[in-house]
Amino acid sequence: TRRVRTRDLLAAKERGEKWSMLTSYDQYTASIFDAAGIPVLLVGDSAANNVFGYETTLPVTAEDLLPLVRAVVRATRQTLVVGDLPFGSYEEGPTQALRTAVRFMKEGGCHAVKLEGGQRYAAQIEAIVGAGIPVMAHIGFTPQREHTIGGYRVQGRGETADEVLADARAVAAAGAFAVVLEMVPGEVAKRVTAELPIPTVGIGAGPETDAQVLVWQDMAGLRTGKAPRFVKRYAALADTLDEATRRFADEVRSGQFPAPEHTF
Ligand code: KIV
Ligand code: NA
Repeated sequence: TRRVRTRDLLAAKERGEKWSMLTSYDQYTASIFDAAGIPVLLVGDSAANNVFGYETTLPVTAEDLLPLVRAVVRATRQTLVVGDLPFGSYEEGPTQALRTAVRFMKEGGCHAVKLEGGQRYAAQIEAIVGAGIPVMAHIGFTPQREHTIGGYRVQGRGETADEVLADARAVAAAGAFAVVLEMVPGEVAKRVTAELPIPTVGIGAGPETDAQVLVWQDMAGLRTGKAPRFVKRYAALADTLDEATRRFADEVRSGQFPAPEHTF
């Protein structure tokens, strides 16, 4: 077995084969997802929320993310690992963007990078791609702009659909190998997917994209509480872990653990 390449994802689109992507931030989840055949793992800046406990993705830095990227790369054999460029690490221009992307490739060892933005960041995408680094774009709702957007809101409803389409065209023209469509109407995602030569990866974008991505703690039910509408929970890890934790504490209290077989 070899690592998935960006050209494999393009070939999958041409064959009409859908694929999945998950976030991962550590070695155990990475190796499980890798063995399960998930072709692409994203070390997302959503580590801000899901690892570091911040309210938004804005505070997380390259210094925070790079060790997580290294862990995921080390734990995988087949998966293409994408490192997410954090807020503040690419907006200034192509030079800053390329510098950060090179850091992710050299220090993180990932196989591609992702950044948020469409037409506005086409120059950044071009510069990174020009240096031989594959770029995954991310349009529609982009969490790093949530203060401007005014919260988690569906993008591309009504007349603004053309904006999403223009962003999609711009990132494809700039050389992105794939594009995440976050929280856009299913109809818009369908149009973008039909028109673009590159794979679309949906999150809250309906069933017509070439691929689907979820944050792994959402997919596996480790995060509890009200989830966004686009989340489906495939397990209840929070309950499993809660139960294990309480049993461990109970057995320590009662003297049931450790037993003779755990004792030297
Ligand atoms: O950081 C992240 O988790 C993401 C995905 C949801 C696409 O950008
Ligand atoms: Na992200």
